[in-house]
Amino acid sequence: MVSLARQSEVRAGWLCLALLVLAGCSDPGGLWGDTAQPDAGVTAPLGRSLPVLCGRQAADRVARLFCGETAPEIAGLEDFAAQLGLRPDDGLLIGHSTALGGHLVSAANPRVLRMPGFELDASLVVIAFTRGQQRVELLALDPTTERMNLYLVEFEQRCNGEAEGCSAGDLFGPAIEEGWLELRIRDDEDLKNTPSDCRRCHGGSAGMPGPVLLMRELEVPWMHWFRERSPLIEDYRQAHLEPHTGVVEAIGGLSPGGVHNPDRMENLVGLLERAGLQGPQPLLFPSAVVGFETGEIDSATGLPSESGPAHVSPTWAGIYDAFRQGQLPAPPFRHERVTHVDGLKRFAESYRAMLAGEIATEALISPREVFPDDPQLRAEIGLEVEPDAGGVEALLQACASCHNARLDPTLSRARFDVDLARVDRSTLARAIERIQLPADDPAVMPPREARQLTAPTRLRLLEFLEQQLAAQP
Ligand code: HEC
Ligand code: HEC
Repeated sequence: MVSLARQSEVRAGWLCLALLVLAGCSDPGGLWGDTAQPDAGVTAPLGRSLPVLCGRQAADRVARLFCGETAPEIAGLEDFAAQLGLRPDDGLLIGHSTALGGHLVSAANPRVLRMPGFELDASLVVIAFTRGQQRVELLALDPTTERMNLYLVEFEQRCNGEAEGCSAGDLFGPAIEEGWLELRIRDDEDLKNTPSDCRRCHGGSAGMPGPVLLMRELEVPWMHWFRERSPLIEDYRQAHLEPHTGVVEAIGGLSPGGVHNPDRMENLVGLLERAGLQGPQPLLFPSAVVGFETGEIDSATGLPSESGPAHVSPTWAGIYDAFRQGQLPAPPFRHERVTHVDGLKRFAESYRAMLAGEIATEALISPREVFPDDPQLRAEIGLEVEPDAGGVEALLQACASCHNARLDPTLSRARFDVDLARVDRSTLARAIERIQLPADDPAVMPPREARQLTAPTRLRLLEFLEQQLAAQP
């Protein structure tokens, strides 16, 4: 375990870096991606971090690439995929995600997964990438230990070094997929006590403890995935159609028109289970039932229904309620689209104008504008705490995903638990402090890319925690 002194040292280092980046950032308010959102935790540019990571002697493809004689040179996403043996155009797009970076994902800015086709390779690698975040998530099978290793590779772009910093267009346009500089890599061991802790979601079950490949929908209709006849593809085209050439822009090396059906992912999950490499999926979301109940999915064809959603889904409401009580991770949104028509239209116009060179990259509006303004819908999508949450509810919704009784007790974050009976006075006081930190402080709780408190729910949570503190002996 990293000692506390060491941690605050590292955090202080990050803070300076964060301030540097922020100073030149076009959006210090934090609407944009994560150039200024480094995790507290251990990290270092390639070279310094490698001895530790490489000392673990993993034999997966990512470790082999990074732990060779010379540091790898990776020009961008496509080059990275190729160096990992992934074929061009093999992959899937998701229009809504509960994974890391999900707060940036919609049909207009889909999350990219790159994976092999239908065979199980002993050196399986899967890549996940979301524009707006200067990082790539990887899952790689180690053929020696049969463990799925997780890696986070971070990079910079030229704009990080420029006075104005990175613009929205640099981060959300095609530029982020090329010209990578300053690579860093960390594995799930390095990340275990950071907001990006991979094991929090990818950790296996008690019987099969190793990390697992996750998929939330294993069957038709694959509600949130780009697939044949999905309305999400139309939404994507709205924004990414280059006006002069009529070409639809590819994202993460994938062209949404020719996108594959998610059955390749489902197949991969099945192969891994049958090979005994992982147990049943821990986070399955019954999208077929939910879609039939809302009327959004036609129960006869499994395709989007003509009439659109009409009803509430009792099944979804049940799962969502369990999340509200702090018992289950939040489910994905109950509808296929997480976008609001007007927001999508505004973003699409802005993006097309950028593609056509009619506006500067700095003038692109945030793809987060596509989400609805309605605070209840924003909560159900996973962006924020529910608007009417009281102190206890806000605590459960904003903190339980990372601070619960299931944590490795050696992690410093295990000192805080949403079961406040297990929290000592000084930690409770620290919680009160950290909730009040400025939004761009790397130590703020909840961390920036997690579900956010709104101003009124923050106040209610603080009041509740103050009462608890006063009541403690
Ligand atoms: C908050 C939960 C959560 C955390 C934390 C998380 N993931 Fe994931 N991840 C998911 C989910 C859910 C999926 C399934 C695809 C989706 O819905 O976006 C996924 C998908 C992936 C994929 C694509 C392959 C697959 O399993 O579907 C990779 C690679 C991946 N994550 C790597 C990582 C790495 C590396 C980390 C840590 C740096 C990490 N993830 C942290 C939830 C999480
Ligand atoms: C996305 C995951 C995540 C969420 C959500 C989250 N935290 Fe944390 N928290 C962490 C991590 C990781 C650490 C340990 C590293 C650090 O101290 O920054 C931590 C540390 C803390 C600590 C310091 C513990 C100690 O004694 O060192 C407190 C207090 C805390 N969190 C409170 C909260 C509160 C209150 C919320 C909800 C409003 C919350 N956190 C939400 C990830 C999270």
